[in-house]
Amino acid sequence: MEIIRIPKVMQDTVGGLLIRGRTIGFVPTMGALHEGHLSLVRRSREENEKTVVSIFVNPLQFGPSEDFARYPRDIEGDVEKLEAERVDILFMPEASLMYPVGFSTRVEVGTISETMCGACRPGHFAGVATVVAKLFHIVKPTRAYFGQKDFQQAVVIRRMVKDLNMDVEIVVCPTVREKDGLAMSSRNMYLSGEQRPAAAVLFRSLKGTAESLASGIIQIGEVRHVLRQKILSEPAVSSVDYAGAYDPETLEELAEPKGEILLACAVWIGSTRLIDNILINIKKER
Ligand code: PAF
Repeated sequence: MEIIRIPKVMQDTVGGLLIRGRTIGFVPTMGALHEGHLSLVRRSREENEKTVVSIFVNPLQFGPSEDFARYPRDIEGDVEKLEAERVDILFMPEASLMYPVGFSTRVEVGTISETMCGACRPGHFAGVATVVAKLFHIVKPTRAYFGQKDFQQAVVIRRMVKDLNMDVEIVVCPTVREKDGLAMSSRNMYLSGEQRPAAAVLFRSLKGTAESLASGIIQIGEVRHVLRQKILSEPAVSSVDYAGAYDPETLEELAEPKGEILLACAVWIGSTRLIDNILINIKKER
């Protein structure tokens, strides 16, 4: 696996691959890699001739009181995992090369960035869209891979790609879960021994609410309350940022049922913020 740290070198390297007609799959990450990331890498390897992974803990997407400084970092472990998956190129730039002195551009993606996580983390999605736009210009991928766990992020990126005519296919892959249903996330590492089993409450509550909705026990207007109550029944939960039923395209909270429904939540367990979601068809969940 080739490790590249300089954006211009990365651009020249992919430029050479593209001239030779190679397809490039790209998995952008912030490192501390787990099976969720590796599932994206495997999908990229299946669908493309070359796979590029980036590791960059993007300061722009963290608020001033958020966990940028303590975000888990494990470069040695990550390199080992990516070598084992036979990734072609790891792009690992320094922040000073991504955001040199004077950097002042932001990519803002409108109202879909302002609901759900965007309402609780102002500026977060502008930070994500800006770095992903930069990474797309540097890596020039044919396809880019994101996890459904970060559903809103995927919607924001799809919108940006469409609005800015970026020539890249966005592929969203299923959430990878632990045995008890907890969605894999680098932030799960923050959970203490007692908090870890409690964190399964997110998925359990989403599933339970979906079942009540599908069987007609509750109506769409009751989802917010029911889901929140289910989550708060776990004593380790300190607070719920949001919980509800949303339109998977506009991300507006739903007052009336429609074909596909996104059930989503963001929950604090101690000082750890976790998110999860499921897409349901009332009859068919996934
Ligand atoms: O999902 C993530 O890990 C990050 O938000 C991303 C897409 C790599 C941008 O920093």
